[in-house]
Amino acid sequence: MMTADRISARELQELLAAGQPVTVIDIRLQADREWSIPGSLQFDSYDAVKSGSLGPLAKLDFPPGPVVTVCGMGATAAKATDLLRARGVHAMTLEGGMRAWSLAWNTAPTTISGCEVVQVRRTGKGCLSYIVASQSEAVVIDASVDPDVYARLLRERGWRLVAVADTHIHADHLSRSRLLAQQEGVDVWMPAQDRTQYRFRSLADGDQIIFGSTTLAAMRTPGHTEESTTYLLDSIAAFTGDTLFLNSVGRPDLEGGSHQQLAARARLLHESVRHLLQLPEATQVLPGHVSEPIPFDGRVLATTIATIRDTVALARLDAAEFVEAVLARIPPNPPNHSQIVELNERGEIPGDPGELEAGANRCAVA
Ligand SMILES: [Fe+2]
Repeated sequence: MMTADRISARELQELLAAGQPVTVIDIRLQADREWSIPGSLQFDSYDAVKSGSLGPLAKLDFPPGPVVTVCGMGATAAKATDLLRARGVHAMTLEGGMRAWSLAWNTAPTTISGCEVVQVRRTGKGCLSYIVASQSEAVVIDASVDPDVYARLLRERGWRLVAVADTHIHADHLSRSRLLAQQEGVDVWMPAQDRTQYRFRSLADGDQIIFGSTTLAAMRTPGHTEESTTYLLDSIAAFTGDTLFLNSVGRPDLEGGSHQQLAARARLLHESVRHLLQLPEATQVLPGHVSEPIPFDGRVLATTIATIRDTVALARLDAAEFVEAVLARIPPNPPNHSQIVELNERGEIPGDPGELEAGANRCAVA
């Protein structure tokens, strides 16, 4: 593999997960670098490479180990690889570029209230999903990478999957929950709503998924979407989906509508955030996304209700201020979000999900 002039996203993921020395060189134009590979070095060499020279890259003193060149889809990076190899640098092109990297993932384990939790992080997109296990029975929340990944992680740990649940109907990535549930022969649980077009177990406010010696209790937290639901683990951890993030709140606008409708949803979101902040201070908050590429460091991305109360200014505003602040800071829509929502309502995944899912998640208002 290491003498080849290209490397797949999966192979690069494995190198980074194993802590192997590898230098990742991102040659995209700055304007195209909304998302990046953790630890990558950024060089404005795109135009130079296209016209056959290394540009600023020529000055780089390469550390030992392989060099991986990255661009949007892999074509220009391949030219950089050729130019670097001509200079004797052990360079390889990331096949399919950042679009292929969108599917890359890593994991971080933790223990909460006697339950084992594995945070499965789609580093190429910022989506966080979870395997929660109690006495070898497991529930997956917000599956966002290939079902085989969860199946393998479950098998490695000797856990039996008993349920798959989504916090809401996602707009930025294709949910893999239905596929995972079908593959493993369990039910999909969704917040009660009438949009999902396949058969699912419906969770109203207060309903529970019981497994091992614990429960996940549904706490309705509308605003990001109407059905958005937080799952409370033993009242000591909250899987907040896209309602409350580590340092921001969800966006209330992706279902569209008039300014009044958006304001009404922002008010609902304010109410939901207020409810969540009334949870005990030590409650762990485990969100559905982060807005940065996720390092291969095995450290769980989580915070506590107390920290959010202290640090997230939006969370301290009264309803009117909150609505105004949130609506003033709405980021651009995620690419293809209406098609993604439609597919998620139908529970379908196209042959090449990367085509729809390329790009960063944009679920947060910071
Ligand atoms: Fe979302």
